[in-house]
Amino acid sequence: MAKNTSKSPQKICLKNKIEVAKFSSEMIDQQLFMNKNSVIGLATGSTPHQTYRELIKIHVSRQRSWAQVKTVNLDEYYGVHRNNTQSYNYYMHMQLFNYIDIRKCNILLPNGTTSDPIAEAKNYEKKITDIGGIDLWLIGIGSNGHIGFNEPGSSRKSRTRLVNLSDTTITDNSRFFDKEIDVPTQAITVGIATIMEARKILLLATGKNKSRAINAALNEPIGPNCPASFLRQHPDCTFLVDEAAAELCKSDFS
Ligand code: PGA
Repeated sequence: MAKNTSKSPQKICLKNKIEVAKFSSEMIDQQLFMNKNSVIGLATGSTPHQTYRELIKIHVSRQRSWAQVKTVNLDEYYGVHRNNTQSYNYYMHMQLFNYIDIRKCNILLPNGTTSDPIAEAKNYEKKITDIGGIDLWLIGIGSNGHIGFNEPGSSRKSRTRLVNLSDTTITDNSRFFDKEIDVPTQAITVGIATIMEARKILLLATGKNKSRAINAALNEPIGPNCPASFLRQHPDCTFLVDEAAAELCKSDFS
C-alpha cells in the first residue's frame, strides 16, 4: 500500500445537496466558459441529479452551449440495453442530454449489451485517448468507497473492463429497482487509472450514508480497500460534500 504522503485534495463542505449542486454546476460551467470544446466526464446515480438540473438552467439562462462539448460516462450496467429505462444511457438522456444542445455523436457511454466486453473496453479507452482525454470528470462515491464501479479491491492501474458489482453496491442500488434481484450484477466501468488521467476531478458526496466512505477516502491509507482514496494522489481533485457527508471528518473540511 502506498504511503499517505501525497498532495491533499481541495476539500469543500457546503450546507446541503442544493448548495453542492449549485457549486458543482458552476465549476462545470466555468470549464465550458474557458473552453467550449471541453471533454467532460460524467456520472450517474442520485448524487449528480441536482447538478444536472442546475446545468440545464445555466444552459438556458446563459445560453451556454454544449454543441462542441464531448462527454464520457463512467460506466454502464452490463446486459442492459441503452433504451432500457434502467440503463445509464437512458438516465443521462433523461437527466441532461435531452435538455441541452449536445450532439449525439459527442456522447460516449459503454455499450452494455456488447457480446465482446473485452473489445468494448479496449475501444472505450481508445476513444477517450482519441478525443484528447478528460478535462473535468464529475464523479460520485459509493458507500463502500467505490468510484465508477471500481469496487474495493480494484487496482490503481485498472482500466475499462467488465466487473462484478459488490453486494454493498447491489443493495445500495436496489432502491432504483422494484426488487434487489432485478439489480444487474455486472457493469462495464472505466478504471481507476482512466479516472486518474482526467486533468481535473470533482467528487461529489451528499448525505450521511456517504460519511464513512468520505472519511476513509481522506484518512485511511491510500489503497484498493477504498478506491476513492487514490484520488489523494491526483494533482487537481476537489472533494465537494455536504455537512452530512462530512460528519465523520469535519476537521478535514474546516
Ligand atoms: P449515488 O451513487 O449517487 O446514487 O449515491 C454514487 C456512486 O455509486 O458512485
